[in-house]
Amino acid sequence: MDIHETEGLMKEDEPPDRSPRPARSWRVAVIANVRGESSLPQDGPSDAGAEFDKIETIQAIQRAIESDGHRTVFLPANANLPLALRDECPDICFNIAEGEGGDGREAQVPALLELMHIPYTASRVTANAIGLDKTMTKRIWRQNGLPTAAFQEFVTGFEPLDPQLSFPMFVKPAREGTGMGMGADSVVHNENELRRRVLWVISIYQQPALVEEFLPGREFTIGVLGRPGADLVARRPELYGADGFVHFPTLEIDNQASVTPGVYGHIAKTLHEGEAGVPGFLCPAPVSAELNAELHRLAVRAHLAVNALDVSRVDMRMDADGKPRLLEINTLPGLTPGFSDLCVIAGAYGMSYQDLILEILYLGASRYGMLEPRPGPNRIGLPQLARMPRQRV
Ligand SMILES: Nc1ncnc2c1ncn2[C@@H]1O[C@H](COP(=O)(O)OP(=O)(O)OP(=O)(O)O)[C@@H](O)[C@H]1O
Ligand SMILES: [Mg+2]
Repeated sequence: MDIHETEGLMKEDEPPDRSPRPARSWRVAVIANVRGESSLPQDGPSDAGAEFDKIETIQAIQRAIESDGHRTVFLPANANLPLALRDECPDICFNIAEGEGGDGREAQVPALLELMHIPYTASRVTANAIGLDKTMTKRIWRQNGLPTAAFQEFVTGFEPLDPQLSFPMFVKPAREGTGMGMGADSVVHNENELRRRVLWVISIYQQPALVEEFLPGREFTIGVLGRPGADLVARRPELYGADGFVHFPTLEIDNQASVTPGVYGHIAKTLHEGEAGVPGFLCPAPVSAELNAELHRLAVRAHLAVNALDVSRVDMRMDADGKPRLLEINTLPGLTPGFSDLCVIAGAYGMSYQDLILEILYLGASRYGMLEPRPGPNRIGLPQLARMPRQRV
């Protein structure tokens, strides 16, 4: 048998590639707010716009998508977006837009894409709006029996303090991210300090202040990727568990050395590995198998409770009794290569940045019937969303 016959035999013996593929290459619009280019209110807080992405992150996402044979275009998430979408006519949008202002900024782009009947990745409108609103998220979790610190929201700052809450407490803007408005001063020990901080949050961030009991224990963040049945539509189904979710390692944030000790606040979130005051990052976290499983179970339940889709990151902290409590969910987790928590987690799992981006893209595309179906029963777990014909104008 010569070498060519051997190769032929091996090819025949190989199982056919069952990964779903697009019928043709797509035109993908990456939609984001870029730091320095998005408009911000002039009298806003000093950390306004901290959630916006660097152009290098958008370019890295574009490269990852193009590596799979698709074409990409970057569209800034500003008031010109409706016209740009009409001009570009993308097959699907890779959405990481944080939005500008308002009470549901992270839901602005999904709402526009729904209105224009354009497919897009990750969570839909309601989950993005709820996820941005930490108080609303905690109400839903509490209603679902999920553990989260006792809390009270202050709209005016003059509401009577709930006597059931005990100090120390933690004060934060109800609808921000990236540690905005959070640092060592967020921890308050008496009602005077609490009132002062609450009124500061309300006046500077122009939104309610969320007050929670302080959680003194270890801090973890869990990456969530997948959905029930995702293994049938995923690009790399072998990365998913039987429940349809990737079982990423847990990331622990050690805040002892943090520039704001004990708190993973805004300044700590801007620092890079090796810089003074950067928290420690441990992935996989040194936790027991039982605690690891419990953190993952909680993260997936927290994700599903707010109807998040395909990808998120769920933050938790332990209470004084060593029990994990949910802090918040990020339905648009940061995707800066090698820096954002989800990218660090994926890397520790052995999933490349390119794979992470393409999985998010494929999971999104599968919701609109954009993949050639794989053989086998259709159990993608979601009704297919309608795709309406669109016209270039
Ligand atoms: N109740 C609490 N008790 C103790 N620390 C807290 C509490 N709430 C928040 N923190 C600290 O503040 C940090 C930021 O809080 P949180 O995760 O709610 O805000 P965020 O800005 O939305 O975060 P992200 O950057 O993940 O979007 C937490 O990582 C934690 O270190
Ligand atoms: Mg957080």
